[in-house]
Amino acid sequence: MITDYKGLKAVVTGGANGIGKAFALGFAKRGADVLVADIHGDEAELVAEEIRALGVQGYSVQADVSLKEECKKIYDKTVEVFGRCDILVNNAGVSASGDFTNIPEQDIRWVYEVNVFSHWFMLGYFLPMMEAQNEHAQIINVCSIAGLITSPASPTYFSSKHAAIALSEVLYKELKAKGSKIDVSVFAPGFVQTEMYLTDRHRPERYAITDDPYYHDEDYQKQLAISKYVTTTGTPLDEVMEYVFKLLGTECFYILTHDKYDALLREQGVFQANKTRPIELSDVAVKATL
Ligand SMILES: NC(=O)c1ccc[n+]([C@@H]2O[C@H](COP(=O)([O-])OP(=O)(O)OC[C@H]3O[C@@H](n4cnc5c(N)ncnc54)[C@H](O)[C@@H]3O)[C@@H](O)[C@H]2O)c1
Repeated sequence: MITDYKGLKAVVTGGANGIGKAFALGFAKRGADVLVADIHGDEAELVAEEIRALGVQGYSVQADVSLKEECKKIYDKTVEVFGRCDILVNNAGVSASGDFTNIPEQDIRWVYEVNVFSHWFMLGYFLPMMEAQNEHAQIINVCSIAGLITSPASPTYFSSKHAAIALSEVLYKELKAKGSKIDVSVFAPGFVQTEMYLTDRHRPERYAITDDPYYHDEDYQKQLAISKYVTTTGTPLDEVMEYVFKLLGTECFYILTHDKYDALLREQGVFQANKTRPIELSDVAVKATL
């Protein structure tokens, strides 16, 4: 667990906006030096400027974390500017709505590559360095409550976040089993006020929106409008991050910021043990959208 951030070296993916930016500035305000990685290099540099204005070191690197070689770019930059990494936040994430029959294959690939593959790639490069440091270090994988429960929508996003949480749980267990000094946490929030509804803005060139009628259908616009509604009415980012930083000072693997899902999480285990069907919101009378 981290109690003193002064002089620590932190790397945050997707650090140019939203939750990633809040992590980056949160570390900097507490005295850490930060490297901001993002697919939008210019926006990452603006955050690095804000970090430097706080009197600590701030750097940026343009990188698309859905590609292994671009994650290597982040690693190389980290070695160049810090020579080490004490805190790694795998935060970059995207979403696509489509259902089982209509979602274009490229959207499934995009979401899985950013939400899951990037964690593999980043860990592949950073774990050996963090282990070799043989000092306390922290990995925070930003997932979602969508990685612990499911809803009758967005199968790509939900399944990708489940995979990311499973990956983090295995990592946690492996590191604990070998007595590693690296702590692992999963941040799994419900809706938070960010501009995540503009997720299409972060598509790499190879997954750009095409003339496929799917992207130009009324349904697609409707899904974007829903996405805008649920994020803009989510919990304010500052409120969420204050709680996150409090929990980072404890030995907490699951960083869960939205209590309204607690009943669902508890009862879900009972439904699974009863071997009948997946739990639904109505089973625990949770007045929330997923
Ligand atoms: N906002 C929410 O309601 C919410 C809820 C649960 C989980 N999350 C998760 O939190 C994380 C951050 O989401 P946010 O709300 O801040 O979203 P956001 O869209 O505001 O920010 C995402 C950032 O990631 C960057 N990014 C996207 N694809 C990238 C790529 N291939 N390579 C490098 N950078 C890339 C974007 O440029 C952007 O700066 C995501 O993993 C998301 O799934 C968000």
